[in-house]
Amino acid sequence: MVQLDDKGFGTRAVHGAGPPDPVTGAVVLPISLATTFEQEAVGKPLAYEYSRSGNPTRTALETHLAVLEGASHGFAFASGLAAEDALLRLVANGDHVLLPDDAYGGTIRLALQVHALAGLAVDTIDLTDLDAVVGAWQPGTRMVWVETPSNPWLRIVDIEAVGALAHARGAVVVVDNTFATPALQRPLALGADIVIHSTTKYLGGHSDVVGGFVATSDDELAERIGFLQNAAGAVPGPLDCYLVHRGAKTLQLRMVRHCESAAAAAELLDAHPAVAQVLYPGLPSHPGHAVAARQMSDFGGMVSMQLTGGEAAALEVCRRTEIFTLAESLGAVESLIEHPARMTHASVTGTGNEVPADLVRLSMGIEDVADVLADLAQALDGLA
Ligand SMILES: Cc1ncc(COP(=O)(O)O)c(C=O)c1O
Repeated sequence: MVQLDDKGFGTRAVHGAGPPDPVTGAVVLPISLATTFEQEAVGKPLAYEYSRSGNPTRTALETHLAVLEGASHGFAFASGLAAEDALLRLVANGDHVLLPDDAYGGTIRLALQVHALAGLAVDTIDLTDLDAVVGAWQPGTRMVWVETPSNPWLRIVDIEAVGALAHARGAVVVVDNTFATPALQRPLALGADIVIHSTTKYLGGHSDVVGGFVATSDDELAERIGFLQNAAGAVPGPLDCYLVHRGAKTLQLRMVRHCESAAAAAELLDAHPAVAQVLYPGLPSHPGHAVAARQMSDFGGMVSMQLTGGEAAALEVCRRTEIFTLAESLGAVESLIEHPARMTHASVTGTGNEVPADLVRLSMGIEDVADVLADLAQALDGLA
């Protein structure tokens, strides 16, 4: 087993996946399909007993991703939302949770249309504004949910500052690290208590698996999350675990290209007359640029833009791109384009959290940067 403590992220991404199989020497993790495991005697299981409670392929994934987040505990879930659902169950009915007003639409839907109906008090606020956080605080506030960079606004929340504020008032801080990934940002080292991911995105990286992941170094929280993972049972199957585990080995390399492509696209869009505003934390004009430069090692692979031609122009750009596929999701090798108001964030359209119809979101893939830029340019140049 390679000693990983003093190694760089790329080495941990490869060797944190675990050593070769001790029985066969296979360098790639076997996919363990068994749902149940023989016991030595009644009530005396060996390492595993039943695959909802634990499975060797899932353990390998959980250990691998925990290493990448610098966490002592990791828990894999069937989707990002299944992971979020487990975390929202950490707080009791009557408790209060602060959520960003620009969180992923599904997160807001889960909090407001599922957990709030069951008695959880939820407020959505601008988490980039610390005064707003203090103003929204209630005696029963037990959890602050951060998503940075956010989907699709690419807003940046200062994890250290929100963490200090929340901890001084006795609340737990959760960070959705889906957009940044541990290759660029490690929230636990910045003071967060829990990190959550949709592994469907960059960690899986190839648009072929839906999954979620939670990491923490707090033993008490870990015990409760592990209990909820087994008790509610929203676990991923072994093949899905394998796919995320394989994807995560190349995370660092992929992120380098995603970031390079996003920075170049942001520059092109910023200079284009069809674009009213570019939302990318790597641009010095972005309001969160300084915080992003401090807490991230690069600015990520997501870029959003608002079109001068409004909704019609936004829809037209989505129609005109050729290399960018018009599709939901993000963080994979292929470049994707989408219209959040009608697609990923349709569940919050018509509410106070809606995304404007002139906004288009780009997930930069790992194709040649020149080709991707040329595609964007032809799509924008052709706008009426
Ligand atoms: C930032 C963020 N968090 C969570 C989720 C939910 O993850 P999943 O689709 O895997 O359930 C998404 C999905 O797009 C997301 O973008």
